[in-house]
Amino acid sequence: MKIKTLYDSSEVSARIKELGDKISAKHNDGKPILCVCVLRGAFMFFSELVKHIKGEVIVDFITLSSYEATSSTGKINLISGLRESIEDRHVLIIEDIIDSGRTIKFLREYFADKNALSVEVACLIDKPMTRQVEAAADYIAFTLTTPAFIVGYGLDYDQRFRNLDGIMEIDLEQ
Ligand code: IMP
Ligand code: MG
Repeated sequence: MKIKTLYDSSEVSARIKELGDKISAKHNDGKPILCVCVLRGAFMFFSELVKHIKGEVIVDFITLSSYEATSSTGKINLISGLRESIEDRHVLIIEDIIDSGRTIKFLREYFADKNALSVEVACLIDKPMTRQVEAAADYIAFTLTTPAFIVGYGLDYDQRFRNLDGIMEIDLEQ
């Protein structure tokens, strides 16, 4: 198993700050932004991103499962939902990776028609080449142009490597 750094922590932090500035500039109507962390993979991205969003931020957490080892099972399970109301708030779903797109499609449907002011998605990594269903993020930190399995910065391989301080590619063959 070989692990290679794609983006080190300073590159990741700089990019997350840029996303925070972009989100703050867009949501300047004084209404609260409910930032929803998709556990567990997004925890590190989430905690860093919310620090850069200006205005009234409310945090909440949602737990889904769809992944086993390195391939998606294709089925999304909602393990625990929101505690906060989304009514009259901007909802920002904060996710680690968009791969097949199923998780984001599921979440956009889940949040639709619940009277949020807006529903947007921020993701740390977009993998557009592995999409199986139509899904897109509004704010993307990094886009991968070649297939890779990523760990670090909250992302895991079988629950390992979430603590690595950077975005790394893991090669299981080597
Ligand atoms: P999707 O529903 O297929 O878009 O999958 C999204 C979820 O799969 C993400 O929230 C991740 O937890 C997981 N995932 C997809 N690709 C990777 C990867 O390269 N490394 C770690 N987790 C991944
Ligand atoms: Mg995940």
